[in-house]
Amino acid sequence: MIFFVIEMKQAIDKACNLIIKLQQLKKIRGYVLTGAGVSKASDIPTFRGEDGLWERYDFEEVATYDAWIRNPEKIWKLYQEGIDLILNAQPNAAHKAIFQLENLNLSQFVITQNVDSLHQKAGSKNVIEVHGNFTRIKCTACGRKQILSKSPEKIPPFCDCGSLFRPDVVLFNESLPEKEISKAFDIAAKSDLVFVIGTSAEVIPAATLPLISKRNGAVVIVFNPEKTTHVQIADVFIQGKCEETLPIFLQELTKE
Ligand code: OAD
Repeated sequence: MIFFVIEMKQAIDKACNLIIKLQQLKKIRGYVLTGAGVSKASDIPTFRGEDGLWERYDFEEVATYDAWIRNPEKIWKLYQEGIDLILNAQPNAAHKAIFQLENLNLSQFVITQNVDSLHQKAGSKNVIEVHGNFTRIKCTACGRKQILSKSPEKIPPFCDCGSLFRPDVVLFNESLPEKEISKAFDIAAKSDLVFVIGTSAEVIPAATLPLISKRNGAVVIVFNPEKTTHVQIADVFIQGKCEETLPIFLQELTKE
């Protein structure tokens, strides 16, 4: 345990030194890439790993368009619970620390694979949602979108045009929203610093963003309890739960 704490402290010191050096050279252009691990402390489950959603559900049965259109009522019932969970969730210390990175001018964008709006609730301004948003629904015919303040009471919900509404999230085998992903690639290519937080690096294209940044000379800092493949390209790996490590990192970075 003590060894683990020392290792974390050394990694945090290294990250702070790299950032201070970078700040002396230029005005930093940075971004944060986040995944489900950031929202775990807000009681929103991750997808992979112990207690992950894909341990409990077969994604082919719940997260593909085919499955969805085959039995919208069944899947909407399940999604109804998810929408309520997300609408009631509150940002945790990690979301708040990520907002602080923006205030410190170390990051100008949050590129997130999360669909829970918790970065926005924590105050982050430029949030790019590459996998959509679970609290928004979209008509399967006319494309009309609606933001929910509570889960739909009548299942499945229908649009005024008479067609089914679906959640406005990216399902398996679907393409990512074009505007968001092209903006994300552009940011990744132009950044000097990237914080990769709470993502397994299993899903492309989002997982390739830090690789692009690294190839263009950016400093890459990874926060995760597990050694993901992003650790291979990281300048610093800060191992641990991000709701614990990020506040310590910020405290170290901002101390006189
Ligand atoms: P995953 O569930 O694949 O990975 C979660 C990551 O969070 C893992 O690397 C964990 O080690 C890490 N983690 C767990 N607890 C953490 C904590 N307290 N602090 C920091 N990290 C923690 O989630 P994503 O990488 O977001 O796509 O998954 C990517 C995409 O796969 C999702 O957006 C979703 C899914 O299929 C779509 O729905 C399109």
